[in-house]
Amino acid sequence: MNTYSPDTVVPGAGARVQEASEIVASNLNKTYGAGPFAKTVIKDCSFTIESNKLTVMIGPSGCGKSTLIQLIAGFESADSGQLTMNGEPIVGPGKDRLVLFQESALFPWMTTYDNIMYGPRARGEGLKEAAEQAEFLLAKVGLEAFRDKYPTQLSGGMQRRAELARAMINKPEVMILDEPFRGLDNMSKELMWEYYATLYEEDRNTNFFVTTDIDEAIFLADRLLIMTNLPTSTRTVIDIDIPRPRKIEDLVHNPRANEIKKEVMTLLHEEAMKSFSGGSKAAADFLDAYSKRAG
Ligand SMILES: Nc1ncnc2c1ncn2[C@@H]1O[C@H](COP(=O)(O)OP(=O)(O)O)[C@@H](O)[C@H]1O
Ligand SMILES: [Mg+2]
Repeated sequence: MNTYSPDTVVPGAGARVQEASEIVASNLNKTYGAGPFAKTVIKDCSFTIESNKLTVMIGPSGCGKSTLIQLIAGFESADSGQLTMNGEPIVGPGKDRLVLFQESALFPWMTTYDNIMYGPRARGEGLKEAAEQAEFLLAKVGLEAFRDKYPTQLSGGMQRRAELARAMINKPEVMILDEPFRGLDNMSKELMWEYYATLYEEDRNTNFFVTTDIDEAIFLADRLLIMTNLPTSTRTVIDIDIPRPRKIEDLVHNPRANEIKKEVMTLLHEEAMKSFSGGSKAAADFLDAYSKRAG
């Protein structure tokens, strides 16, 4: 079996290993609005997105995860604290950080192949290598037979896979994903986890993945950042020391996975309860989903 230890970076076939790229957040604060309408979303929040690892951030809905992504992407700035990439302050957007949102990014008038090739063609660079990479990615996400189809001819899960390939062909130094599989049915979601994990394991670039789904977090993460309720900060960091490649059954049969799951559930439940007692609808929805899953 092809096991993986976090300190040995073993790229797969076709990989182009990136330079080390690390993002460090120190004591970040962010408040929206002013005066009586002020809402503090991020409070004294510190964490590291380590180089060549898949860091997953999990926290209750509405706790401030997407706001943190806005800061890391450079679309918004913090009120105070430091945010650096490779030691340099993040002052705005850059092609070193690519954000994949939940909403479809596919162009409806382009085929799957043309969508995947969009980034390299727009830059007009390395097109021969990009075409090879596109073939490789099409195979990796199981869309070879759908290369000439348009987005409306693909299922929801296929569209997400095409979006993944379309983003990953650009080989950003840091790939940032904001709940990219939210809204998919459970089976499509599990398939997505496998496709995405395989893509990550190919080159092990720095990935930052945000979710509210505990199974998704444990299946994917090298490191798991568990966030507090709003205003958010890092509550705990857990190293997910489960060998790769992982199997969906690991979530049921692997004792370590279960141990981690219990710990994460307990912490998130406590955080959700805090916002529940504060009257948040998002927290009530989360608790509802949580108790269904736990029961
Ligand atoms: N531009 C904004 N102006 C005012 N409030 C905002 C803005 N963006 C987000 N918020 C508020 O910040 C909180 C956290 O939102 P968000 O970061 O989207 O949470 P999450 O991604 O964890 O669900 C929410 O209460 C949201 O209403
Ligand atoms: Mg969000």
